[in-house]
Amino acid sequence: MPGNIILETQNVSKHFGALRAVDDVSLQVRAGSFHSIIGPNGAGKTTFFNLLSRNLPVTSGRILYKGQDITNLPVHRTAHLGIGRSFQITNIFPNLTVLENIRLAAQALGRHNFRFLSSHRRFKAYEARAWEVAQQVGLETEALHPARILPHGAQRKLELGMLLAPDPEVLLLDEPTAGMAAEQVPELIELVQRIQETGNKTVMLVEHNMNVVMSVSDVITVMHQGAVLAEGAPADIAANETVQQAYLGQLYELAQKEAKS
Ligand SMILES: Nc1ncnc2c1ncn2[C@@H]1O[C@H](COP(=O)(O)OP(=O)(O)O)[C@@H](O)[C@H]1O
Ligand SMILES: [Mg+2]
Repeated sequence: MPGNIILETQNVSKHFGALRAVDDVSLQVRAGSFHSIIGPNGAGKTTFFNLLSRNLPVTSGRILYKGQDITNLPVHRTAHLGIGRSFQITNIFPNLTVLENIRLAAQALGRHNFRFLSSHRRFKAYEARAWEVAQQVGLETEALHPARILPHGAQRKLELGMLLAPDPEVLLLDEPTAGMAAEQVPELIELVQRIQETGNKTVMLVEHNMNVVMSVSDVITVMHQGAVLAEGAPADIAANETVQQAYLGQLYELAQKEAKS
């Protein structure tokens, strides 16, 4: 696996009043790795991503990106540095085409600086970038359709495309498969994996589907009540007794109940 640490937190905490939503988390993410965060609802996963992307200020601790302290950087600066963040609810413009949505995302946050070009050429450059991304996420045929007519699965691909448009190095994906039909989940995750491998991206994923997490991750961090409960390769996490007690056990029981009912 690739060696360098691209993103690191040192004793990062986020308190909401008396609640320690993120509690003294020290974590290292290797460049080019697929690093998943799992844990029960309320464990602090989304809050942790909000700290990494700088959408929320930390209460204490430090965040380093490529060795640079980004703890107090404004959110748009982290995007320009190459940290891309998806949200459970994203801002697709329903009446714009797929291509226009991707182009706007590239323009708003893009690290490609086309500012030196004339406005006509700049438009063409962003449009070319949008076509490239549409192709990458498998939406070429739908590129000129208004986003609102896309089926749910394709909308998820568009959200991924909008995240990729500015060409981030690190992708923070918070439950990208939420609300998707189970049979569509592998396709989206395989797409993420392909993008990660071919583009040499670092992916951080929050995902509830254990099969998915176990099959795609290089490293899994388990969060529980704001803190890191365990970290390791998928096989280690699956075999970890503390994890099973705190989390996996409950999930498997739940799955068995559902299977029986
Ligand atoms: N803006 C907020 N204000 C107060 N409490 C919050 C806020 N955001 C999240 N929380 C609380 O922090 C805890 C962690 O939430 P969250 O990060 O969303 O967990 P997860 O994504 O793992 O389900 C929860 O108890 C949640 O209610
Ligand atoms: Mg969450």
